Amino acid sequence: MLFEQIRSGGCLSYLIGCDDSCAALIVDPHLDQLDRYIALVAERGMRVHYVAETHTHADHFSAARELGKALDAKIVTHRASPAPFANVRVDDGEQIHIGKLRMRVLHTPGHTADSCSFVFEDRVLTGDTLLIGGTGRTDLPTGDPDQLFDSLFGKLLELDDAMRVYPAHDYKERNSTTIGAEKQTNLRLKKTERKDFVALMRGLDMKMPVHLTEALRTNCSGGKTVAQLIAEASREVVFMDMHEVARHIERGDRDLVLLDVREKEAFDRGHLPGAKHVPRGQLELRVDKELPDPNARILAYCQVGRVSTLATATLRTMGFQRAIALDGGYDAWVAAGLPVTA
Ligand SMILES: [Fe+2]
Repeated sequence: MLFEQIRSGGCLSYLIGCDDSCAALIVDPHLDQLDRYIALVAERGMRVHYVAETHTHADHFSAARELGKALDAKIVTHRASPAPFANVRVDDGEQIHIGKLRMRVLHTPGHTADSCSFVFEDRVLTGDTLLIGGTGRTDLPTGDPDQLFDSLFGKLLELDDAMRVYPAHDYKERNSTTIGAEKQTNLRLKKTERKDFVALMRGLDMKMPVHLTEALRTNCSGGKTVAQLIAEASREVVFMDMHEVARHIERGDRDLVLLDVREKEAFDRGHLPGAKHVPRGQLELRVDKELPDPNARILAYCQVGRVSTLATATLRTMGFQRAIALDGGYDAWVAAGLPVTA
């Protein structure tokens, strides 16, 4: 059995494969590590059949949909998952076969309604239901401390004490634990009375995850994150260093059309010498009037360099094949002491 844990900050994901057949499964992939999974699978000589999610993540961006497309793999979720792109919906007690490996699904709601744990012969992937020295929180959408109590005490802790536990999160660089060790040392599991456990969970006052709304929007719909949109745009775009742009300005080079895509108030406060102004929001509608030469070498810039990347990709899509983006934005330009006019 191939078993690799891939860490992205505090998020843990897994590549699991059958040595005999080279069939593999990826669990809880993180969008930041998309290229890593694809490279790792190729390096290990595995064919990924399934990408499985232990639950709908509210704190990070899932790579399930992208990986499913890239690796031609089926996406596995619990049947209660809101993700419309899931191909294989599973429920408690069912099995997924990965070559000769058997993965049993335990429905373990509580952290979310669609939380599952994935049981193999000697180990269990517990998602955010059981963590090392902790449990998943129950205060996010579809969370329920009563259900978490049942999932822990009625299901996970019934597994063999020797079972290794691999969670979806750990913030202290730990890799795994066992059911037995958690029974001994996990303070939350000392609350063996339902009312005590529920009171403990309800009393936790935790900060909301930073990207909660964006994570739920994208993970529940298969839509794209802002970082993804910008990364996709930047792959279609080329950039120019600000000092190179400054040299063009110094030489009085009229070939390079500077295009400020910020809002009017920002432009009026100060801009690059000789820059034209078309706000990003009006770009498509005004571009033919403002930039009649599609062969012009246009350099777009904005405040920090993200909106200009999107704007440049739009310009290239519209046929401005020489459109480029400033590497950085107006803030960095000013910080570098380069010339501006008001
Ligand atoms: Fe979670």
